[in-house]
Amino acid sequence: MTLVGKRVLLIVSGGIAAIKVPELIRLLRKQGAGVTCVLTDNGAQFVTPLSLQALSESKVYADLFSLTDESEMGHIQLSRSADLLVVAPATANILAKMAVGLADDLASTVLLATDKPVLVAPAMNVRMWLHPATQANMTTLTARGVQVIGPDEGAMACNEFGPGRMSEPPAIVAAIGSLLTSRARPLAGKHAIVTSGPTHEPIDPVRYIANRSSGRQGHAIAAALADLGARVTLVSGPVTVPDPPGVAVRRIESAAEMLDACQTALPADVAVFAAAVADWRVDNAATGKIKKQAGAAAPALNLVPNPDILATIAAAGPRRPRLVIGFAAETDDLLANAQSKLRRKNADWIVANDVSPATGIMGGLDNAVHIISHAGVEDWPMLAKDEVARRLAARIAEALA
Ligand code: C5P
Repeated sequence: MTLVGKRVLLIVSGGIAAIKVPELIRLLRKQGAGVTCVLTDNGAQFVTPLSLQALSESKVYADLFSLTDESEMGHIQLSRSADLLVVAPATANILAKMAVGLADDLASTVLLATDKPVLVAPAMNVRMWLHPATQANMTTLTARGVQVIGPDEGAMACNEFGPGRMSEPPAIVAAIGSLLTSRARPLAGKHAIVTSGPTHEPIDPVRYIANRSSGRQGHAIAAALADLGARVTLVSGPVTVPDPPGVAVRRIESAAEMLDACQTALPADVAVFAAAVADWRVDNAATGKIKKQAGAAAPALNLVPNPDILATIAAAGPRRPRLVIGFAAETDDLLANAQSKLRRKNADWIVANDVSPATGIMGGLDNAVHIISHAGVEDWPMLAKDEVARRLAARIAEALA
């Protein structure tokens, strides 16, 4: 990838992740991009104008009412001088200002005045990110076409753990690259939820019930949707496949947690339920490890049904995504079962695959699927899971167009 000749206006707001901005500038410059920084007052608490200026080799703008700046370059001109505006880190505060259209400093004014594409890299405490106010602001911004990268999940400076870490500079540079190279992005402005992987249902704190799902197909679908420009929330059970680039990953273990994460992520334009959710969980999982006792009978596990995540989200009334897609993994009567699933779960499409051991599909790299909709059945040939994902994402883009 090269960014030679591309100009990025980098808006740095006030979060601890601002300490990663010098590295971001260095990587952008290495790709040949020109970088000009706008620093908020709070951003300047974490990174100095001098370091940004030295690395970008360009004047750093901070003050809306600086007469010198206005004589050299007005804020309107500044807002349109670049090919792309990048807000990194984007705090809850600046995202809220963008969502309501406040313009009380140079950064927010430039963001309101621009006619250029905008990419935000959110960074904040996990509670602030998950707060309904922030999530509603993200929905507003995404619907307006603002592009989003991250946030990542992990340990935070505030000693908490969860989604809220700013994406790493190489991932932000990759996202900038894909925005600035002219590719079709038919899903720009759309939000997709994808579930992937197995669920783990606890028996006690150390034991669980699981299945053989690898998460490959679900992760590939999340990546393909992001590649077409969608903002993607990937709700994933425990898997070893890597996180797809440019996707916000929510890691969960049980079906109950998966449902909760999906509901938190609503509203969405499309939801793809590719996870192999356990049908049952252990009623009253033990809070301490169940001890093996000599001579005693093996413990009986009392199983109760898990919530059906697909059916619950498909019945979400006004919050139902426009397009709800389920999977059907069957070993017998594939099409009949998939068709009844389509109706029973109120899905729009079911992607059906035969997971008999002889097919090698479960855990493998290839997949042969049938797309079942109210219009009929379509058979796709055996394809790599990545290619199934690309074709499905293209279909989704057509359906949402
Ligand atoms: O009923 P069955 O598990 O075969 O249905 C498969 C489809 O339903 C998949 O899309 C799967 O992700 C979804 N599902 C779900 N929640 C469950 C069970 C299945 O979302 N508890």
